[in-house]
Amino acid sequence: MKVLVTGGCGFIGSHTCVELLEGGYEVVIVDNLSNSKKDVVNKIETITNKKVKFYEVNVCDFKELDKIFETEQIDAVIHFAGYKAVGESVSKPIMYYRNNLDSTLTLIEVMSKHNVKRLVFSSSATVYGDPEKLPITEDFPLHTTNPYGTTKLMIEMILRDLYKSDNEWSIALLRYFNPIGAHKSGLIGENPNGIPNNLMPYIVKVANKELPQLSIFGNDYVTKDGTGVRDYIHVVDLAKGHIKAIEKVSKDRGIDAYNLGTGKGYSVLEIVNTFMKVNNVDVPYKIVERRPGDIAACYASTEKANKILGWKAELEIDEMCKDAYNYVINNK
Ligand code: UFG
Repeated sequence: MKVLVTGGCGFIGSHTCVELLEGGYEVVIVDNLSNSKKDVVNKIETITNKKVKFYEVNVCDFKELDKIFETEQIDAVIHFAGYKAVGESVSKPIMYYRNNLDSTLTLIEVMSKHNVKRLVFSSSATVYGDPEKLPITEDFPLHTTNPYGTTKLMIEMILRDLYKSDNEWSIALLRYFNPIGAHKSGLIGENPNGIPNNLMPYIVKVANKELPQLSIFGNDYVTKDGTGVRDYIHVVDLAKGHIKAIEKVSKDRGIDAYNLGTGKGYSVLEIVNTFMKVNNVDVPYKIVERRPGDIAACYASTEKANKILGWKAELEIDEMCKDAYNYVINNK
């Protein structure tokens, strides 16, 4: 079975390509390298000892994408490609709507043309906004607080309308919680350009002395220690969830959403302390004001993914912290 992966050179995309290849799937990557590097393709091949087809193409480009579908016999698509920085989406909303919506619409049109109707979409727990209670189940009300999140929610709605109009589609909407960690090989991992926005890449840069100290955004939330609580999931576990989703869309038609998290919440302080302990390294930090738009706590109910996809995250927080640091040490 041949799977086309848009954004396959990115953080979650590259780990998913590894799992696909190890599971015996053929992989075709389409990535315009806007936020990733081409050498990721070689690294995926080194880890798996298998070949990957790579096309440096923008998913918004109908003609080029169409050519790929003409050349390759694609059976299913995993769609990761998209802009993903929350803060940037607030200052450049139109760029986000244009890119994330256009790429998805183009992809769907090309897939329809070639009668490829199995799709796994990379959504986000951001579609739940600030949840009224925890853990979050898939039937919670959906609302967003920034344009990035809105593009994810809009795409979910577009895909639901698509299925209503044509019941031959099989679509899985995967709502990710907070992916961290890296592949054990230390060859692929998270590599944001510039100063990171997310917690783990920031911690890693402080541990590596590239940044002087971590700012912890608020310690007055109603949580176990006052700092924000999130559901951190190892990116390899998350990648494995995509294989289960591909199996699901290969056998059943329909559209459904699944939370991919661990179901456990860790505070910022717990993450920082675990990171220091397992890696035996110092991460200086200071407490600062809350970051606007942040919520106190967020973690998943993973029951649905467990029951319907037969998937469950296995790696613990120690492993996530070790692997995140190992990747940076390896790529110094
Ligand atoms: N945090 C800090 N200091 C930092 C960075 C983060 O204290 O320098 C804290 C935040 O306040 C929050 C926690 O660490 O409590 C996690 O923050 P992240 O920025 O790593 O992640 P978020 O939960 O804010 O956002 C993530 C993804 C989004 C996605 C969202 C909801 O980055 O893409 O989860 O699923 F939309």
